[in-house]
Amino acid sequence: MRIVILTGAGISAESGLDTFRAKGGLWENHPIEEVATPEAFARDPDKVHDFYNMRRAALYDVEPNAAHIALAELERKFKGDVTLVTQNVDDLHERGGSQNLIHMHGELRSVFCTHCGTRQRWLDDLDIGTVCPECSRAGGMRPDVVWFGEYPYHMERIWPALEACDLFVSIGTSGNVYPTAQFVQQASRSGAKTLELNLEPSANANDFDTSINGVASKIVPEWVDSILES
Ligand code: OAD
Repeated sequence: MRIVILTGAGISAESGLDTFRAKGGLWENHPIEEVATPEAFARDPDKVHDFYNMRRAALYDVEPNAAHIALAELERKFKGDVTLVTQNVDDLHERGGSQNLIHMHGELRSVFCTHCGTRQRWLDDLDIGTVCPECSRAGGMRPDVVWFGEYPYHMERIWPALEACDLFVSIGTSGNVYPTAQFVQQASRSGAKTLELNLEPSANANDFDTSINGVASKIVPEWVDSILES
């Protein structure tokens, strides 16, 4: 049996990281067009760096919660195949123990040099004067994240995994962003069962065979237990 799991900001909410579209969420206080597009970065790189520096620094204050840990346990103990795809740029799945993980929107703790094309692990703040350790040039370092208007990473692995899976599970995501909002339909078309685990019904909740609403730290470990027992 092959399971593909998609996670979003809701799985990290109980760890203390803000979601995007909730009242007071990230996009309310930091409009997308000011901090999360290539045009914003060209126009005001300091503002964009500040936004991602703030989010990168916040990672020092948070820990994985029971939902991250349960998904890592599933990966270790399940006899079939588990592919975990996350839209999250935090590193809580890794710290919870997940290894087979696809970061489709990039990672806060990675940077990309647009001069030399090098990616590297990065824990500190970035600014327009940051020099690339690889090519020694300044001005080209950007957060290694996918902005609106850019194509998500690793889609060449994700679409085939969705086509081949027997069960697709979406956790803690509002279903507002493409292409992820289409994953459930892709998996259904390929004959997979589909399950949503979210605090509230998402925008595409009707596309799922089954929905369970509640906090991730409760409903994800319960679901993992049910799969490992079955
Ligand atoms: P959203 O903020 O759009 O949605 C978070 C979802 O998590 C909502 O449906 C909440 O109801 C749910 N939620 C909140 N707390 C929860 C909890 N404790 N347990 C379970 N569910 C909970 O975030 P995403 O769907 O992840 O993209 O957003 C998707 C993408 O849009 C992000 O990766 C980001 C954003 O714009 C980029 O930056 C490119």
